[in-house]
Amino acid sequence: MAQGRITRGTTGANRLRRVDRWIAALPALRRADDPFVVDLGFGASPTTTLELHARLAAVRPDVEVLGIEIDPERVARASVHTRPGVAFSLGGFEAPAPWGRRPVVLRALNVLRQYDESEVADAWARMTARLQPEGVLVEGTCDELGRVASWVGLGVEGPRTFTVSLRLTGLERPSVVAERLPKALIHRNVPGERVHAFLAALDAAWARAAPLSAYGPSQRWRAVGAAMRAAGWPVRDGPRRWRLGELTVGWSAVTPGPSSAPRSPDRAPRDL
Ligand SMILES: C[S@@+](CC[C@H](N)C(=O)[O-])C[C@H]1O[C@@H](n2cnc3c(N)ncnc32)[C@H](O)[C@@H]1O
Repeated sequence: MAQGRITRGTTGANRLRRVDRWIAALPALRRADDPFVVDLGFGASPTTTLELHARLAAVRPDVEVLGIEIDPERVARASVHTRPGVAFSLGGFEAPAPWGRRPVVLRALNVLRQYDESEVADAWARMTARLQPEGVLVEGTCDELGRVASWVGLGVEGPRTFTVSLRLTGLERPSVVAERLPKALIHRNVPGERVHAFLAALDAAWARAAPLSAYGPSQRWRAVGAAMRAAGWPVRDGPRRWRLGELTVGWSAVTPGPSSAPRSPDRAPRDL
């Protein structure tokens, strides 16, 4: 029996471009012996599944994407879009695939948003159990137009990273992402929690970098990334990603629980 339940199928063309760009850069995908990817919960139309395939095929021409939905009617409608490298099937968090094939990437965007926070750990465990040993579960949320997004990157052992990705043009404060946090974090954005301290630090760094606006918002965001690293946040990426409006930190920066300020600059590897 499919694990989970049917929820609203809201989706939209191009709304997942930010997360797709991040997935396309994952070393696990680029190196995979079997570049098999699952898009779980594709919604009322398969547009974002087709887009995922097109974007990943640009870096892995042999990628195969399976769109999985728990609503049989949505699967039936999507199936007419089956093509080389893209297929659709019925299923839930158990992410069934033919011959027990395991995905190197499992994308679940805007799916857990409509679940309860107490259901997240079980859903994560079921989805990560399906991954290839080096595989990555990407679970997160974005706004309707895909301008504000955030996601958790998980390995088979659990959450590893947290990424914020924002359209920088016209951005007032990075903490606009508060409304689009993954379910595991959205109710934790209160004083005393790590994610709250993290967003406050981002806002403060963005405000301090205001003079750099003269050189464009990307320069300003690059200063934010550098300032966060210098302040000791476990920043996992670098200028190449920052110029896209992204910032990835280790999960320890936002793990639900009481916050404590980072003590020393983080020495972790800079890239994904
Ligand atoms: C809001 S839509 C998201 C569509 C698309 N991923 C996007 O971000 O634009 C959520 C979809 O997830 C599906 N869904 C919810 N729980 C699921 C589960 N456990 N397994 C598969 N699909 C699920 C819902 O039926 C719904 O169509």
